[in-house]
Amino acid sequence: MANNYEMITARVTAVEQATPLIKRFTLVRQDGQPLPTFTGGSHIIVQMQGADGRRFSNAYSLMSDPADTRAYQIGVRLEEQSKGGSAFMHNQVEVGTELTISTPNNLFAIDPSAGRHVLIAGGIGITPFLAQLYELQAQGAAYELHYAFRAPEHGAFQDELSTGPHAEHVQLYIDSLGRMLDLRQLFSGLAADAHVYVCGPKPLIDAVIATARDLGIDDARVHWEQFAATPASGGAFTVVLAKSGTELRVEEGVTILQAIEKTTTVEVECLCREGVCGTCETRILEGEAEHFDQYLSDDEKASQRTMMLCVSRARGERLVLDL
Ligand code: FES
Repeated sequence: MANNYEMITARVTAVEQATPLIKRFTLVRQDGQPLPTFTGGSHIIVQMQGADGRRFSNAYSLMSDPADTRAYQIGVRLEEQSKGGSAFMHNQVEVGTELTISTPNNLFAIDPSAGRHVLIAGGIGITPFLAQLYELQAQGAAYELHYAFRAPEHGAFQDELSTGPHAEHVQLYIDSLGRMLDLRQLFSGLAADAHVYVCGPKPLIDAVIATARDLGIDDARVHWEQFAATPASGGAFTVVLAKSGTELRVEEGVTILQAIEKTTTVEVECLCREGVCGTCETRILEGEAEHFDQYLSDDEKASQRTMMLCVSRARGERLVLDL
């Protein structure tokens, strides 16, 4: 697919330690112009280059007010299993650092048909909702935010949530204090026109989807987003690149993209490397994919016409790709 993102040179103007593991970065355009407009739930892709030449690329949700295009803000969690990007942001990026960022794209937009918006965040999953809260408030929409985290020190931005303009719409749940989010109870009182949005760790997303299904809530009313890199788990399989006539083995722990880069000269365009941007989308000629990306819709995934090579894998023993 064509790469629809434009890249912008940005400069970091503020770095704030929000929790022991999360930093908030404020970015402006290097040329002083306003940044592109965006809607709540949008992400940007941040490209980083280390002093040793290593390049990293991660998608981050925009958490600032969409009405303010003077600066963007992103929240970055230092991941234990970092591919390098979050560690770079935490250890190398400071006020004055230049970064290349993409124009925003939104895969997690507010659904305008909903009569009420029920936002559920876990940990760093709070970031897209911060931008959506501004948007929902500006629209005069009915909304509520349920924000769960494991201990008081890990609740990012909880002071501004608890005391700011959204305070009466926000509920905090803190595991270590025994204040747990009860999804079944929350959903049992859900209005028929309410939509649910969830962002955070995979177990929380899975629990929200499963509980909603169990209670008969239509899938179309449940929206989710997760940017954490999908582990390249799952058994080994064979990939055939039809145009170049190459056959290669993709081992457990390796993505198709990595295997292609390591063993062939075939060039695959890729920007985010985490199933978000769509640039590595490739046609499937034979076989079926196990999709792990955020980019394709459920219908597109079911059609098995294309797949994202940076995260998705084979469902069987063999895949033939249009490369
Ligand atoms: S590189 Fe972005 S989806 Fe694969």
